[in-house]
Amino acid sequence: MAEKSRIGVTGLAVMGANLARNIASRGVPVAVHNRTTAKTTQFMQDYGHEGDFTGAESTEDFVAALEKPRRIIVMVKAGKPVDGVIEELTPLLDEGDIIIDAGNSHFPDTVRRTAECAENGIRFMGVGVSGGEEGALLGPSIMPGGDPEAYAEVEDVFTSIAAVVDGTPCCVHVGPGGAGHYVKMVHNGIEYADIQLIAEAYDLLTRVAGLDATAIGKIFEEWNTGDLESFLIEITGKVLAKTDEKTGRPLVDVIVDQAGQKGTGTWTAIDALGLGIPLTGITEAVFARGLSALRDERKKASATLAGPSPEGKEDRTDLVEDIRQALYASKVVAYAQGFAQMRAASIENGWDLDLGAMATIWRGGCIIRAQFLNRIRDAYAEHPDLDNLLMVPYFTEAVANAQDAWRRVVVTATEQGVAIPAFSSSLSYYDGYRTERGPANLIQGLRDFFGAHTYKRIDGEGSFHTRWSQDGTEVQTD
Ligand code: 6PG
Repeated sequence: MAEKSRIGVTGLAVMGANLARNIASRGVPVAVHNRTTAKTTQFMQDYGHEGDFTGAESTEDFVAALEKPRRIIVMVKAGKPVDGVIEELTPLLDEGDIIIDAGNSHFPDTVRRTAECAENGIRFMGVGVSGGEEGALLGPSIMPGGDPEAYAEVEDVFTSIAAVVDGTPCCVHVGPGGAGHYVKMVHNGIEYADIQLIAEAYDLLTRVAGLDATAIGKIFEEWNTGDLESFLIEITGKVLAKTDEKTGRPLVDVIVDQAGQKGTGTWTAIDALGLGIPLTGITEAVFARGLSALRDERKKASATLAGPSPEGKEDRTDLVEDIRQALYASKVVAYAQGFAQMRAASIENGWDLDLGAMATIWRGGCIIRAQFLNRIRDAYAEHPDLDNLLMVPYFTEAVANAQDAWRRVVVTATEQGVAIPAFSSSLSYYDGYRTERGPANLIQGLRDFFGAHTYKRIDGEGSFHTRWSQDGTEVQTD
């Protein structure tokens, strides 16, 4: 056993425990700690033999077990528990020690904690970790943010435990302050959009094409061999193929249709609203979970509100392929929007995010890992200042090829009364984005009418106001 551990992990629920085991599996001595001592004891019993672990019962023992500068990974529930741990650690730490919050913290909290810790000479890092329990153990995607010098102290450990794709670890320093947790937040937002699009495809295949879960599972399995190849498409096939032990029916048919959420999708949507970035795919996905939660209201409304009900008799031959293409095109839009949001945030916060690197570290380990991200990485390699991914020839063509099918799916779903908020809003975004002259001229006219908010003219500089309710003349205001 090493005299002092190279790194510590506090918070030994599954994610923390698995991260500690992953680190130890690389030959790194790890000190482990949990607020409830029984958890530490259990951890040492279950996994102590796997590596060079020091189980610490008290926070004092934990800190004392670490070499300097101390590197402490905090893996507790986002919110107040993180502040609680920092408060407890602070008096025991020395100048230059590093606290690493590897949970799903909201980035403004990370910015605040970075400043608070700095007052005590402690270096704080907000690190996004994606991949769920299995990823934490076998290789997650890691999005470290914070002081680059602090990162240099843990870089070797992080890159050694991260997933690897084509020889490249899925871990790169994202940027200062809250950048790491910001990027993880957008990752989760994209995860919401991806999942919602999959759910809409499943709904159409069930209710419009009239297929059962097993058949749809096979379709997803097949889709996973093409452009859509990704972890989420792969596990959709597996979830749909699972039979319920109790009833013998497909498990998915006995799961209640109410989606839970822990907040990261909502944060992404709120942040996009603040930045003025249209983030329709992710935001509709968040709203769709909200609508799913209104189960009792939906039950009443289903017996009251008029509208068509799909009969599940649509000719399947072309429909299945149309849905695949609609899913792909909508996915391109969701990623284009998420990356546009990161670009805007990077400019706003001076983070200098390397968007190609973000696509690179999302290729493995994380929940949204997909083939497709190689294309996004290539796009930014060629055009680092790209406004919108849709403008890169690969994606321009992909959507151009898919759009007829996409439009047919939106029409069919609308005619048959199937809600497809992410498919349809993505298509509207696409059509809006490719419209040179939209209808906002009228919005400006109305705003000027009721509030003298002024408008610009297409034929000259300056701002103008029309005296709508007076003599109808136009005046230049600046
Ligand atoms: C990940 C996941 C992980 C978690 C989500 C689930 O990247 O490993 O995103 O962070 O599973 O937070 O989010 P919801 O509970 O909000 O769906």
